[in-house]
Amino acid sequence: MEDKKTIKAALLGLGTVGGGVYKLMNRQKEEFPYKIGANLEIEKVLVRNLEKERPGIDSSLLTDNWQDILNDDSIEIVIEVMGGIEPAKTYIKEALEAGKNVVTANKDLLAEYGGELLDLAGEVKKDLLFEAAVAGGIPIICPLKQCLAGNYLTEVMGIVNGTTNFILSKMTHEGMDFEDALKIAQDLGYAEADPTADVEGHDAGRKIAIMASIAFNSRVTFSDVYTEGITKISAKDIEYAKDMGFVIKLLGVARKKEDGIEVLVHPMLIPKNHPLASVDDAFNAVYVHGDAVDDAMFYGRGAGEFPTASAIMGDVIDVSRNIMYGCTGRIACSCYKHIPVKKVEDIESKFFLRMTVDNTPGVLANIASVFGNNGVGLEKVIQQNVKKDLAELVVVTDPVKEKHLRDSMAIFNGMSIIKKIPAIIRVYGA
Ligand code: NAP
Ligand code: HSE
Repeated sequence: MEDKKTIKAALLGLGTVGGGVYKLMNRQKEEFPYKIGANLEIEKVLVRNLEKERPGIDSSLLTDNWQDILNDDSIEIVIEVMGGIEPAKTYIKEALEAGKNVVTANKDLLAEYGGELLDLAGEVKKDLLFEAAVAGGIPIICPLKQCLAGNYLTEVMGIVNGTTNFILSKMTHEGMDFEDALKIAQDLGYAEADPTADVEGHDAGRKIAIMASIAFNSRVTFSDVYTEGITKISAKDIEYAKDMGFVIKLLGVARKKEDGIEVLVHPMLIPKNHPLASVDDAFNAVYVHGDAVDDAMFYGRGAGEFPTASAIMGDVIDVSRNIMYGCTGRIACSCYKHIPVKKVEDIESKFFLRMTVDNTPGVLANIASVFGNNGVGLEKVIQQNVKKDLAELVVVTDPVKEKHLRDSMAIFNGMSIIKKIPAIIRVYGA
């Protein structure tokens, strides 16, 4: 509408997410005057390579020079969808210092430098919003920061990596092996070209660090998160889990306990009737527990062009409304507590262990006594003969501090009756 103000934004990056944002901006164009009270448009787009073919993009908007955006005072919102730490961190800081608001999807950056950047946004009274950084299209940052602000939150647990959930779903439901499932995930564009961050749990670790910081009002960085990936999960473990009424999922888990914050990413056996057990394929879900709301779960698409652009656009519209009301910078860093993060050794879990052992009388008693001497109680023991002289032993422990399990493992390593321990996986429940 011509009589309305026009809010101008710049896109930094025009890849999967940037391309989606560009398209959504055009798709929603007629709605902005009603939703925001202003027009909203993209003024410039920063890319690395100006020569690349970009069908459907107005090439007059493209630049490869950040200064063109930084020095353009008409641009009030910078949308950072380049990824990586640098130059994204410098550009975001410079944008805020120049009086611009920022929307970003950059979990790598926020999981390490979120505190510093949010403090800066608070100082200059500008918005720094990042709904797209965790679980793509699923609204979770805004619910944690705003809708659930009246709670003491004690648990945030989620499937927050689509690639690994896709792989585990294929292994569980189609009996596929890890490598084949990973190849399909890459072909479908879920996994990164280098899938290490996905399969080793680093991507989920960054997302759980961001969520834990907000949920518990205390800064948690990626380096605080204990991470284990899914590369060692085998078809055998999945079959045993199935027989015992569980499925295996890669979870990001953050809990607020009396003695500190527990924050981990690891595969876990969860009961088939748990709401997270039926979250399959590349879908994500986040489960939250608060003293007032009780349990709440958020489910949807955690990645991809339009789901991620949906989260970005929600933030851009939010910032635009704040610009119109002169109230940017209302919610900056919400970490006003300093709660220690617990060492993994001190965290209590139940464990599933699969061991190959000598098939001779007394072996089971020996193993049970090592567990017993280290304070590890056993909930379940299954033994199957694999060869005449070898047996496969599957054990589920009672809840035990990880250090006690590790002490038992140190002794097992020196016992000739134990040939291999191919799987140690945490089990849901107390
Ligand atoms: P992408 O497809 O690799 O696109 C990156 C874009 O940024 C490209 O257009 C590239 O320019 C541009 N770029 C990179 N470095 C640059 C630099 N130094 N200067 C100028 N432009 C630069 O990445 P993406 O998948 O869209 O991801 C973007 C961000 O969103 C990341 O932080 C990612 O973690 C996050 N995210 C992604 C998803 C998803 O589903 N993909 C979901 C949630 C969050 P050229 O085109 O010229 O190469
Ligand atoms: N590689 C990520 C995933 C993309 O598989 O979930 C979004 O962060």
